[in-house]
Amino acid sequence: MTQMKKLEDLIVRDKRVLVRVDFNVPIHNGRVTDELRIEAALPTIQYLLSQRAKVILASHLGRPDGKPDQKYSLEPVAVLLSKLLKREVLFLHDCVGEDIEEKVMQMRSGQVALLENLRYHAEEEAGDATFARGLANLGEVYVDDAFAVAHRAHASVVGVPKLLPHAAGKLLQAEVSTLTGLMAAPKKPFVAIIGGAKISDKIEFMKNLMKKADTIVISGAMANTFLAAQGHNMRESVLDKKGFAVAREILATAQRKNIEVILPVDVVVASSPSSKRTRTVTVGQLDDGDMALDIGPASTTNIHVALQDAQTIFWNGTLGYTEEEAFRTASTAVAKTIASSKALSVIGGGDTAGFIDSIGMNSKFGFVSTGGGAALELLSGKKLPAVVALSR
Ligand code: ADP
Ligand code: 3PG
Ligand code: MG
Repeated sequence: MTQMKKLEDLIVRDKRVLVRVDFNVPIHNGRVTDELRIEAALPTIQYLLSQRAKVILASHLGRPDGKPDQKYSLEPVAVLLSKLLKREVLFLHDCVGEDIEEKVMQMRSGQVALLENLRYHAEEEAGDATFARGLANLGEVYVDDAFAVAHRAHASVVGVPKLLPHAAGKLLQAEVSTLTGLMAAPKKPFVAIIGGAKISDKIEFMKNLMKKADTIVISGAMANTFLAAQGHNMRESVLDKKGFAVAREILATAQRKNIEVILPVDVVVASSPSSKRTRTVTVGQLDDGDMALDIGPASTTNIHVALQDAQTIFWNGTLGYTEEEAFRTASTAVAKTIASSKALSVIGGGDTAGFIDSIGMNSKFGFVSTGGGAALELLSGKKLPAVVALSR
């Protein structure tokens, strides 16, 4: 297998280094509300600064549809980054053009600049070669540390490495080696917990998982689909009718391969996610109007038991509607069980990582991936365009 070129092998001293990061973070009232992706990029930035490089950071934020939109400005990120690095971060109001080139040429060794949102230009997502040239003009070398966007063949991740000496940053290296290692040779027993909402996003991953896992726990709205596919009336619960056939296929494969599948036996229901009136009911006993929004205590105990002997644990997708306090119980309990386990634990998925961060447990796991779609694609066995571009 070809290997990505590594940051540590790239000559960066006193050079202008264009660094693609993924600072696609939630921002509310001008403030970043989840810092995981920014903190995860610090080791690469700090390494570059220790080499006295001129660090030019480029990122996207949200989906502004190829035009400037203040809602998607990266300026709040520059403010936070400056605090985390304890040094000035120069914010530039665009990412290409003569004016930006001029400003970047004036940078001194050890200075940090953050460019405005790459997706203010439609050429970024189109993978446009001229736009890539405009970005490449800013740096003498290129470092990609943006794991979360590595599954997109966009100009800044696929076009720029064709034009500049390049390497993968520390985060990208760690993400790829941890997630590839997880699927290649997991220590057994390997228990995977899959929750979240949409089965269609996770089919390929679940199929690949069945080649390696000993136990698969299915939870969250994902479980609603499986339970309904088995014939249970899930009433108003969020589920994916189109996923019934796949759900049955996955259950049949698991049985054939002797993989243990743990589905909820009880659920916490309410009439809507914002309702405070909740009840715990056995699966099969939901009433008219009920939505299953978390798994119940008996189901949580079953997961706890399944995790006891695990040597490897992977968790993707929250076990309930964790946006509301009332439906965070199972996810919080399982997070604590995983944190106290001796197993190698890997957490994947944007919402799951965000949930872990919100309960202050980031540092309690072996590895928390910053990738959502990118992690799932890698775990499905697919080649990521950015990884391919850095391996040439
Ligand atoms: P990740 O981003 O970590 O891959 P997903 O996006 O697949 O995770 O799943 C997280 C989402 O699933 C959250 O928005 C959560 O509210 C939702 N979810 C989990 N369980 C339920 C449920 N029982 N009913 C409705 N939504 C749920
Ligand atoms: C993510 O948050 O998954 C990445 O930043 C990619 O964003 P995208 O799904 O808008 O391409
Ligand atoms: Mg999600």
